[in-house]
Amino acid sequence: EVPEISPEQARSDAAQRLKIGIYFATWWALNVVFNIYNKKVLNAFPYPWLTSTLSLAAGSLIMLISWATRIAEAPKTDFNFWKALAPVAVAHTIGHVAATVSMSKVAVSFTHIIKSGEPAFSVLVSRFLLGETFPVPVYLSLVPIIGGCALAAVTELNFNMTGFMGAMISNLAFVFRNIFSKKGMKGLSVSGMNYYACLSILSLFILTPFAIAVEGPQMWAAGWQTALSQIGPNFICLGMKAVFVRALIAFVGVSVPITSFADLENILVYATMNLLHNRWIAAQSIFYHLYNQVSYMSLDEISPLTFSIGNTMKRISVIVSSIIIFRTPVQPVNALGAAIAVLGTFLYSQAKQ
Ligand code: 3PG
Repeated sequence: EVPEISPEQARSDAAQRLKIGIYFATWWALNVVFNIYNKKVLNAFPYPWLTSTLSLAAGSLIMLISWATRIAEAPKTDFNFWKALAPVAVAHTIGHVAATVSMSKVAVSFTHIIKSGEPAFSVLVSRFLLGETFPVPVYLSLVPIIGGCALAAVTELNFNMTGFMGAMISNLAFVFRNIFSKKGMKGLSVSGMNYYACLSILSLFILTPFAIAVEGPQMWAAGWQTALSQIGPNFICLGMKAVFVRALIAFVGVSVPITSFADLENILVYATMNLLHNRWIAAQSIFYHLYNQVSYMSLDEISPLTFSIGNTMKRISVIVSSIIIFRTPVQPVNALGAAIAVLGTFLYSQAKQ
């Protein structure tokens, strides 16, 4: 017998569904934009430790400003809060930098195909480290997930070990992040938005010294020059040079003695690329924060299981859009592997329910 639902109840259920639908759509859209800009930056400027630090810095800055101007209410936190947040932040930092390193070495789609295997890591960690057991169908659903990822990996045209391992490490780290943050958020009065803000700030502190040790300012400065000189001229249409040169020089404040048209040309290329790259970096950093913030806001409203299903569905939109935008070559078996892996995740979610 189907229980009666009052009209008010039905209306509020529908409103809740609509709200979650809007959260999901926003989360996925922001994530697609992040992935595109992130890859554009990494293609021109392959310094994943710096760019992942900048994404955390942008998020921290946005939230500090929002708190200072009271756009958002600052959370009330104590030492115990930050202590409980520390393991989450370590896992978040490792997962984030590993995914970014991966994307600097392989196609965005490949990183996300491997990342669609995250549920398998979740089951294995829960089983072997936490001693949790699952119904048999859950274990069976791991077969297509692992098999599909493996098939996609071995048939990947531009396979790279660092790229592959980065995505695998990111999977493992994010499983721990989710386990720790589920524990940490329970019974807290801090909202999903503020929880993620504190997570960014703490992760920024953790990542910065490592980014300087692994890459460092010298490498970044040299890389910036290379990036500018390599792709600069392609973007310039000769006729536009003379027109825009003064405005651009004024805008970026380049003060170099100009002695010839060649100098003008170099300055213009430099200035244009500086602006363009700065915009890409700003975009990837800001969108990184926004999509994570929205995902933590939706985590407030839904179960971790629904969250992880949403996360895998998100990867489909990223995989498809990045293949189109970056014209990534895909072989049919490769695509089949990805499809099997994603289907496996769907079966996993059904089995877990
Ligand atoms: C990152 O840089 O943190 C990853 O791109 C994020 O991966 P996600 O899709 O699991 O959030």
